[in-house]
Amino acid sequence: MLPFPAVSQKKRIAIVPGDGIGREVIPETVKVIAATKASVDLTPFDWSAERYLADGVTIPPDGFAMLARDFDAILVGAFGDPRVPTNIHAKEILLGMRFKMDLYANVRPVRLLDSSLCPLKGIEPRDVDFVVIRENTEGMYVDAGGFFKQHTPDEIAVQEDINSRKGVERIIRYAFDYCERHTKQDGSPRQRVLMTDKANVMTYAGGLWQRVFKEVSREYPQIAAEHMYVDALCMQMVRDPRAFDVIVTNNMFGDILTDLAAGLQGGLGMAASGNIHPGKTSMFEPVHGSAPPIAGKNIANPFGAILTAAMMLNHLGLNSEAEKIEAAALEAVRQKKTTQDLGGSLRTKEAGDWVAERISKL
Ligand code: NAD
Ligand code: IPM
Ligand code: MN
Repeated sequence: MLPFPAVSQKKRIAIVPGDGIGREVIPETVKVIAATKASVDLTPFDWSAERYLADGVTIPPDGFAMLARDFDAILVGAFGDPRVPTNIHAKEILLGMRFKMDLYANVRPVRLLDSSLCPLKGIEPRDVDFVVIRENTEGMYVDAGGFFKQHTPDEIAVQEDINSRKGVERIIRYAFDYCERHTKQDGSPRQRVLMTDKANVMTYAGGLWQRVFKEVSREYPQIAAEHMYVDALCMQMVRDPRAFDVIVTNNMFGDILTDLAAGLQGGLGMAASGNIHPGKTSMFEPVHGSAPPIAGKNIANPFGAILTAAMMLNHLGLNSEAEKIEAAALEAVRQKKTTQDLGGSLRTKEAGDWVAERISKL
């Protein structure tokens, strides 16, 4: 018997590749994490469409409690498989983690690594450097609603948009705190939080968001508080992305805006995200989905997942390891050591190998 219990300083990470290209980009990401020699223990889980079709399990009954208890972070690939048209497994696993583990802040950085990746003319990397803070546990995602007179000519479908005072307040406060704590890539301070909604039409939800935004912003007099309607914001995002710093919004608008914003970064293959509750086990995933048409072909871009790993390592305090990943990914893009969606000629595995090898040499 030892005089003290064994203590491991290693960060414990659950790895859930999921479906489609998730099963290709996550192995590359694991390779890259290993190349950093980060002090981590990685444990794979097979929760996916495949598993669901085999034995009906989406996530085991104690799954969320186990993740919260036994892991410091979770790295997820993507969910979605044409063989499961209801998408029930994605709902139970992915939305399950977000909702049941109360990961209320979906943080989606929007950064351009190289001018060649942006479809806009004359845009430099420093011009695209903002972050979308998406509310992640409420809104139109709560699945509140129902059918009335279903399958009759008089059918009615209701889908509720749920916005709690607590939920709105904590995400807005998170956005201001994020603005205070983070700098831009060039080291300059973040200075502005913009709340976007559709309060001119959705007056109840928008009214609450506007009131709470005004109240919380008073606690941060050094940060500029701005507002735009979400339709106008979409137009502005593709005309001049320099206008943005920190954007905070609801679940649905955040989902849509971050696919649009991914376009500025070079496409969905480049966008990273974290699903965060400060102090709790948080989950990290690329913004893209399972991309069924390109799955299994070794052509998916692994950089969204790889940059997501950097975000996760930063969150875990493994900052120098995260920096290595970011530097290697940046160099890959500059040298066109990329997959075809970015104009390169590498396959998924080769792109992962290149980044891992570059890190090993650092
Ligand atoms: P998607 O993100 O899978 O694909 C959209 C487009 O982007 C496709 O043209 C695809 O080929 C391309 N793309 C995406 N990731 C790429 C990558 N890494 N490299 C190169 N190209 C890439 O979105 P979709 O087609 O709307 O959805 C497909 C499935 O994924 C659906 O079942 C959807 O519900 C699911 N989905 C899951 C997540 C998630 O698990 N987080 C996110 C979005 C969509
Ligand atoms: C995302 C995805 C998910 C969402 C889907 C797969 C449920 O599009 O993470 O952006 O809508 O949040
Ligand atoms: Mn989405």
